[in-house]
Amino acid sequence: MISDVVDWLSCPHCATALIVEGSPGMRLVCEEGHVFDVARHGYVSLLAGGGAAGTADTAEMVAERAAFLGAGHYDGIAELVAGVAAVAVDGASVAPDESCVLDLGAGTGYYLARVLDAVDQPGIALDISKHAARLAARAHPRIGAVVADAWAGLPVRGRAASVVLNVFAPRNPREMRRVLHPGGRAVVVVPEPDHLRELIEEYGLMAVDDRKPERLREQFADRFTVESEHTCRATLALSATEVAQVVGMGPNAWHERAGEVRSGGAVTVAVRAYVLSPI
Ligand SMILES: C[S@@+](CC[C@H](N)C(=O)[O-])C[C@H]1O[C@@H](n2cnc3c(N)ncnc32)[C@H](O)[C@@H]1O
Ligand SMILES: [Zn+2]
Repeated sequence: MISDVVDWLSCPHCATALIVEGSPGMRLVCEEGHVFDVARHGYVSLLAGGGAAGTADTAEMVAERAAFLGAGHYDGIAELVAGVAAVAVDGASVAPDESCVLDLGAGTGYYLARVLDAVDQPGIALDISKHAARLAARAHPRIGAVVADAWAGLPVRGRAASVVLNVFAPRNPREMRRVLHPGGRAVVVVPEPDHLRELIEEYGLMAVDDRKPERLREQFADRFTVESEHTCRATLALSATEVAQVVGMGPNAWHERAGEVRSGGAVTVAVRAYVLSPI
């Protein structure tokens, strides 16, 4: 719930602390009097500017993602993420009640929920899509879901997080560094070059350029060092419906092709998790 994480949030307008007021009809109020209503579905929007970025997942994409992840196809990735996050929290030299886990571009909260099962901390699921935030808000009792832009200044207090997660989502190393406790770790998961290879070939989908390990290292080089790397590989046997879900939950340009899927088949899953320690 939002009340589990409010201590770690800050006002997007003036960066002062927020408190929870009211019940029912909860809202967050900052020291300067800025007010943010908690939506009926349990998330709060702390977007500083106007509308959501064009990169926000739509309701349809979020539904495809929820269905696909719910069937357990990416359980191996979740296990890996939860495992490395738990090790990071153990070694974080910060008391569990003095920090939280922050997931940037959290989507439905699938990975964060698995991490919170493994560590006894509250978790912030931050995403620019309100459709994603709505699902994340009920993915785990200790999740507080926040709509915000990961490219902008995050409405999160400095040094708040023992672990910052980033799974297939926009990365903002400067802000990740600011909100991470100095003893904490960032866990960043990116696709390997052959992730979903069969689908990319068959449907002419554009592979995301960040499938190159050196790009990630360059992106973080000023603020983090790579402490360890872990890969997760599998071959999934997917039905036509499941293939359509994976294509449909992908970037916008992929999503539009989901209707063309006619058959299932073997699909390569290949991802790499980086554990980064702050410099
Ligand atoms: C490929 S999905 C990954 C979601 C989740 N981490 C997962 O793996 O299931 C990318 C997510 O990033 C979110 N996103 C895109 N642009 C964003 C931004 N500027 N700030 C925060 N989230 C953003 C999307 O709404 C979407 O939920
Ligand atoms: Zn304020």
